[in-house]
Amino acid sequence: MIQIIDGNEVAGRIRSELETCLDTLERNGVVPGLATVLMSDDGASETYVSMKRRACDELGIESFHYDVDPGAPADVLLERLDELNSDSAINGVLVQLPLPDHVEEQRVLERLDPLKDVDGFHPENVGRLVTGTPRFKPCTPHGVQRLLAAADVDTEGKDVVVVGRSNIVGKPMANLLLQRSKLGNATVTVCHSRTNDLAEKTRGADVVVAAAGVPELIDGSMLTDGTTVIDVGVNRVEADTEKGYELVGDVEFESAKSRADAITPVPGGVGPLTITMLLYNTVKAASLQENVPVSLPE
Ligand code: GUN
Repeated sequence: MIQIIDGNEVAGRIRSELETCLDTLERNGVVPGLATVLMSDDGASETYVSMKRRACDELGIESFHYDVDPGAPADVLLERLDELNSDSAINGVLVQLPLPDHVEEQRVLERLDPLKDVDGFHPENVGRLVTGTPRFKPCTPHGVQRLLAAADVDTEGKDVVVVGRSNIVGKPMANLLLQRSKLGNATVTVCHSRTNDLAEKTRGADVVVAAAGVPELIDGSMLTDGTTVIDVGVNRVEADTEKGYELVGDVEFESAKSRADAITPVPGGVGPLTITMLLYNTVKAASLQENVPVSLPE
């Protein structure tokens, strides 16, 4: 029988384990603080940031929000980051991406204190992940690992096809799955927009992680029976609804469901985990900065 992997349930379990860590921190006088920075008018980015802040409030992490005018020079954002880097009430800083075209993303990510980089996007943290000593695992791929574990999918020795090569999901996902660790040890293939015969690659996979940002790119005809399908895509497509759009994944759910043995829905699959692993990294950042050990959920 097909297993629909419930992201809200898995996220809920991790969040309740994080509450224990927060209690430990609080007993030592520490309340973690997360700063979110938004330099965009994009409705989806605004929604993501407000969901992240709400999740902090619900768990007992203090959240601070800063809007930067999307038309302002890059220096305005960089100076804000300098202030946040030196503010001891703030343990984690998240700059919502994408940034406006005139702002060089890499310069911004490099300006963050790597110990406050709860996205895991600073080159120091990327380097640590690639070399096998991760500090902050990027939230979405870390969440995907947790979903696979919750669905009892052992990745050791398995053929995993990651579709998408972004710095936010595809590349860190591939690196995490390659690690010599319980949630890794996979044989990883990374496909992208220039891959010849994507369907041939996905048909050979035990696990497909779809993170291309292309609505319903992968359908059932591209899968073999028994594949585990993790859909990272959240695409707004025009629809006759109140909002004028609906959310669809990178996977055509109905046809994929007839082939997969386990699959994540959109919404309610990967999304809740992305936010939860941000909370996880913020707790970890506070623990590291304040020297208060906590037992983070394995
Ligand atoms: N934009 C889309 N996903 C992410 C993410 O995980 N972190 C940040 N900072 N921006 C994003």
